[in-house]
Amino acid sequence: NVADIGVTGMAVMGSNLARNLARNGFKVAIHNRSVAKTETVYENYKDEGEFFPSESTEDFVNSLQKPRVAIIMVKAGGPTDAVIDELSQYMDEGDIIVDCGNALFTDTRRREHALREKGLHFVGAGVSGGEEGALNGPSIMPGGTVESYDRLGPMFEKISAHVDGVPCCTHVGADGAGHFVKMVHNGIEYADMQVISEAYDLMKRALGMDADAIGDVFAEWNKGDLESFLIEITAIVLKHKDSRTGQAFVDVILDQAAQKGTGAWTVQTALDLGVPVTGIAEATFARSISGDAAEREAARATLKGETLDEEIADKAQFIDDLQKALYASKLVAYSQGFEEIAKGAETYDWDIKLGDMAKIWRGGCIIRAKFLNRITEAYDREPSLKLLLADPYFTEEITKCVPAWRRVVAYAAANGFPAPVFASSLAYYDAVRAERLPAALVQAQRDYFGAHTYKRVDDEGTYHVEWSGDLTETRQDG
Ligand code: 6PG
Repeated sequence: NVADIGVTGMAVMGSNLARNLARNGFKVAIHNRSVAKTETVYENYKDEGEFFPSESTEDFVNSLQKPRVAIIMVKAGGPTDAVIDELSQYMDEGDIIVDCGNALFTDTRRREHALREKGLHFVGAGVSGGEEGALNGPSIMPGGTVESYDRLGPMFEKISAHVDGVPCCTHVGADGAGHFVKMVHNGIEYADMQVISEAYDLMKRALGMDADAIGDVFAEWNKGDLESFLIEITAIVLKHKDSRTGQAFVDVILDQAAQKGTGAWTVQTALDLGVPVTGIAEATFARSISGDAAEREAARATLKGETLDEEIADKAQFIDDLQKALYASKLVAYSQGFEEIAKGAETYDWDIKLGDMAKIWRGGCIIRAKFLNRITEAYDREPSLKLLLADPYFTEEITKCVPAWRRVVAYAAANGFPAPVFASSLAYYDAVRAERLPAALVQAQRDYFGAHTYKRVDDEGTYHVEWSGDLTETRQDG
């Protein structure tokens, strides 16, 4: 019983997390289903800190100080359940199992409830930052009980990224709250990546710029409001040359985006909760469209564009417009993502501090960005803020972008360039701020064909029209 903490699953994320813990002075037990991997990690990194390799799950558990903390870093789904079952056999009341993989929060809730029955703590912790982050400081989003955080939190806070001396880790909320927040983080990541790609595509196709020149634009944008990890790496990637052909690297990559499912989870969950995450949804569908080669081929063979083929007179102005369209669409995606977290917290009874979520995303994670400070400030000003865009700072920011945003969306539509997140975010913006929506007509239609009833603007109550009879309006409720 010597190790402070253990990690089972020695693929790259697990071994990097173990190394990060060891480098920070913790005694780390390591384990993997196949022993060879544990040995390789031990041999390669034993000089970085104190590792305690174990061959069996039983030895692994027994090497941990009580209350024990065992991190699982294996494939989501069945493999995670299998490892939990094995670990829990050897554990004692009060011990803690931590799943640092990208698990679906409903699975985490199920596992937490099951382990609670056995007197064990189960923590679903979102970990963002990829391999690099796991090794040098990720953003960590742990759920689970407060007691488990008391034991685990100080270690996680130490190994997480830090911004202005503040760790990018905090207790998110009970049971699946951590994985829920990580899921929304990934959804926002999808939207963020897609808006960057839409700006890139318009520079490439509408302005005819090459990847290198577009990379320069992103490098420039990274000095302003858009400063973020994703903009930074976009500039680097665009300026990179393919070693085989000497061409721009991006031009030799097959244009079919993959997805492991966290974006889809964010959208599915939002549909269940009734939260309009239009930006994330369009970004997820954009990947689906790109990935369906057969469908695209069929469409290319028949569907004609009939575009206006307009020339862009002022190139610099258009690039400036693109920056604003990107920024405004990004603000919409974040506002929607935070709304999903708020709705999730309300539904599952999690005490999530929204401003703290923005704070722990300032460093370590994939969506780290300067402007997250502004989100924290907005929730500090008004903790029960209904809509992030309605915060005075964000209202002012998005208002400044609107004319440029409209020009970009109009130009893209007229000239046949798909910009689904730019366009749908603008539609959301106009819908959410509209005085009156055509939903009134939808209600009338529903009442016509299904007697679904409607409410009036000038009175209380629920009404129905006898559409197939004498057209009388009757009040349905009392
Ligand atoms: C992170 C990333 C990480 C991973 C995603 C990518 O926060 O570090 O989000 O979790 O890169 O799983 O997801 P896709 O494969 O679906 O793009």
